[in-house]
Amino acid sequence: MTGAIVLLLAIVVLAGPGRQGRAQDEIGPADSPHGDFLADCTLCHSDDGWTPLEFGEEWDHAAISGFPLAGAHAAADCMSCHRSLDFTEHPPSDCVGCHQDVHLGELGTDCGRCHTARSFIDRALHLRMHRMSRFPLTGAHVTLDCERCHRPVAAGKHQWVGLPTVCEGCHRDDFRRTTDPDHEALGFPMFCDECHTTRTWEAGPLTHPSEVFPLTGAHRGLNCSECHESDDFRAAPTDCVGCHLDDYLGTTDPNHVVARFPTRCDECHTTVSWDAARFDHDALYFPIYSGTHRGVWSACSDCHQSSTSFRDFTCLTCHDRADTDEDHQGVPGYGYDSRLCLQCHPDGRQ
Ligand code: HEC
Ligand code: HEC
Ligand code: HEC
Ligand code: HEC
Ligand code: HEC
Ligand code: HEC
Ligand code: HEC
Ligand code: HEC
Ligand code: HEC
Ligand code: HEC
Ligand code: HEC
Ligand code: HEC
Ligand code: HEC
Repeated sequence: MTGAIVLLLAIVVLAGPGRQGRAQDEIGPADSPHGDFLADCTLCHSDDGWTPLEFGEEWDHAAISGFPLAGAHAAADCMSCHRSLDFTEHPPSDCVGCHQDVHLGELGTDCGRCHTARSFIDRALHLRMHRMSRFPLTGAHVTLDCERCHRPVAAGKHQWVGLPTVCEGCHRDDFRRTTDPDHEALGFPMFCDECHTTRTWEAGPLTHPSEVFPLTGAHRGLNCSECHESDDFRAAPTDCVGCHLDDYLGTTDPNHVVARFPTRCDECHTTVSWDAARFDHDALYFPIYSGTHRGVWSACSDCHQSSTSFRDFTCLTCHDRADTDEDHQGVPGYGYDSRLCLQCHPDGRQ
């Protein structure tokens, strides 16, 4: 300590006298204390003396060095960064070269990722930074104190990294405490985000947890128990007929059993409603959803009157004998018979 003071005094004694009070133009570049740095002296000095410094309009630390003096750096004394007046001896330019890494390496050396020269403690910046982390803050997490998750730790231990990022890593106890519904008893999976967002626990699942079976159409908004009779959520059938066999057997118009419709309901139905069927009667048999007969029939039984087969059909329910006979006067091969009608009018057109 004493040694340092002695040395300092020696420098002052040697360098101090002589220069002080001398007019600037008496000194050439050779007298400059700035080493090989030979910029125009008036950039930083005025005619009134070497000190105090007076900067010319041209002065711009960023332009001359590539290192902008922003935030707290703008107010800092030149010599708090520059160890000597020889400006060619550059100070370090990365933050960690001058600032102590309070995180002890935990967060890497790119301090500028989370800090500016304005202040080390900048919540808005840290929240934005958090979006780039493995765990962006959303919902109820945004307004929490950082310390709720990042518990202060003894020096040398990690405070900021190494936290769990999966919900159950922090909310296992909440899961165990549930009563309505009792998650544990019902065998819910631990993956909270399959059913919850970070906003609130109260809202039920926004999406169905199963990718195998997304809830669409009439399946949305049903009580879970309508499909999940047992506690094993994976046991629910996924084929339509697994849950809708009775509906199939109960059909009357058309009678699916008689029509020998396949039991893969989704070939013709969506989950929205049984009434709107996607059934390619037109291309396969006879146009009824398009062409002349679109909208003129009200039930399959207008044409299919047999209760045992859809191969049977009649055209005569609507096309009465008198008119039809009259329309076909002189048409060779005509007869008032449905099979014959279909032969000459396979598309229901003239
Ligand atoms: C980029 C700015 C800058 C330029 C350009 C500059 N100086 Fe300086 N000069 C300084 C600073 C900073 C100090 C230290 C001031 C202090 O200690 O308060 C200084 C101090 C000095 C001193 C006083 C040294 C001391 O020991 O007290 C002299 C002499 C001097 N400069 C000469 C020159 C000469 C000659 C030139 C032109 C060749 C020049 N300076 C160009 C920034 C500059
Ligand atoms: C917060 C720290 C900091 C402060 C305060 C600071 N500087 Fe610098 N300065 C630097 C760094 C870092 C560099 C070197 C940048 C590089 O290596 O690219 C530099 C470079 C320079 C250079 C360029 C030297 C060359 O070789 O071209 C000059 C001149 C300079 N500073 C003068 C000043 C003066 C005059 C002041 C006071 C008004 C000042 N600096 C204040 C950090 C600082
Ligand atoms: C060449 C050295 C140097 C470099 C490089 C440097 N600083 Fe500084 N910084 C200083 C000095 C000197 C001060 C002013 C003295 C003080 O308050 O510690 C300062 C002050 C600060 C302050 C205000 C201090 C406070 O406690 O509020 C912040 C924030 C800061 N620097 C951030 C940064 C960041 C971020 C970087 C990198 C982008 C950086 N610094 C690079 C030297 C440096
Ligand atoms: C991934 C982001 C991140 C990185 C990278 C990072 N920090 Fe921090 N730093 C933080 C957070 C978060 C805080 C705490 C802010 C608070 O308490 O509100 C902090 C606080 C600080 C503080 C102030 C401590 C205090 O309590 O006053 C300093 C100084 C600091 N950091 C320096 C650095 C330095 C130096 C580096 C580069 C080696 C660095 N940081 C890298 C996120 C980061
Ligand atoms: C709800 C919990 C939670 C809250 C609240 C929270 N964090 Fe985090 N934070 C995490 C998790 C989880 C990670 C990811 C840990 C990992 O990647 O190892 C993380 C990561 C980080 C990191 C490291 C980022 C990186 O890139 O390495 C920093 C720094 C951080 N948080 C700072 C903050 C600050 C500052 C706040 C307050 C504004 C905050 N956190 C609030 C959970 C939280
Ligand atoms: C790093 C720990 C951590 C992780 C990971 C985490 N949380 Fe949180 N979460 C918290 C803390 C701490 C709170 C505030 C204390 C509390 O209410 O439990 C909270 C609060 C909540 C709340 C608000 C609770 C209330 O009562 O208002 C919900 C909802 C929530 N988290 C859902 C989730 C979901 C969903 C996930 C997964 C995507 C998740 N959390 C991941 C720590 C975490
Ligand atoms: C299979 C879907 C599903 C999963 C997975 C799930 N939950 Fe739930 N959770 C629900 C439903 C449904 C409710 C009732 C919502 C309502 O009341 O509208 C609920 C309600 C809650 C409630 C409030 C009710 C109470 O009794 O306290 C909490 C707390 C909760 N869940 C926590 C969790 C946690 C923590 C996890 C992950 C570890 C999780 N849940 C996983 C479906 C699920
Ligand atoms: C319309 C029927 C239906 C409804 C309503 C329904 N589910 Fe499902 N769920 C299924 C089917 C089908 C599966 C797939 C079973 C499989 O994976 O084999 C399934 C799977 C699941 C799984 C297992 C996911 C997995 O992969 O581990 C969970 C948990 C679940 N459902 C929870 C719920 C909850 C909670 C509700 C009420 C909010 C609900 N389900 C409502 C039909 C339904
Ligand atoms: C795990 C059981 C389950 C499976 C699998 C299932 N459903 Fe459902 N579905 C239901 C339940 C329960 C209802 C509501 C009660 C009802 O109307 O039968 C329903 C309702 C419907 C409705 C509405 C009925 C109405 O009256 O409005 C249609 C349409 C439907 N399902 C079509 C389908 C189709 C198509 C498939 C195959 C892709 C399918 N369902 C698979 C359980 C299931
Ligand atoms: C080849 C196509 C096809 C298949 C496969 C099919 N349906 Fe249909 N279904 C229809 C047509 C066509 C209608 C009549 C729609 C209309 O009224 O526009 C219909 C109507 C229904 C109706 C309402 C009519 C009534 O009598 O109640 C129910 C219920 C129904 N289907 C259930 C099922 C079920 C359950 C399955 C699978 C197990 C199934 N369907 C498979 C074509 C099909
Ligand atoms: C306007 C008359 C008409 C109406 C209405 C009609 N069909 Fe048809 N359907 C036909 C004709 C014509 C054939 C062809 C018979 C043939 O080629 O032997 C046919 C054939 C079929 C066949 C094939 C039978 C087989 O085994 O080859 C099925 C199944 C069928 N229709 C179901 C339906 C259903 C279901 C409806 C009501 C949604 C319906 N049809 C309404 C005229 C009609
Ligand atoms: C549910 C009543 C109904 C049944 C059943 C019916 N039709 Fe028609 N058909 C109509 C109506 C209504 C028209 C349009 C009015 C008209 O031109 O007489 C029509 C028109 C036609 C036309 C004339 C189209 C044109 O281009 O002008 C032909 C051909 C025809 N039907 C053939 C058939 C054949 C073949 C069958 C039996 C497979 C059949 N229809 C069963 C109601 C029916
Ligand atoms: C041998 C072939 C043949 C048979 C069988 C036949 N048609 Fe036609 N149909 C025709 C021809 C050709 C015309 C056009 C006659 C004309 O323009 O003078 C026609 C015209 C019609 C028209 C349109 C009449 C108008 O003027 O708008 C209808 C409706 C019709 N047929 C229905 C039927 C029905 C129903 C049957 C069965 C009972 C039937 N056809 C049997 C060949 C036939």
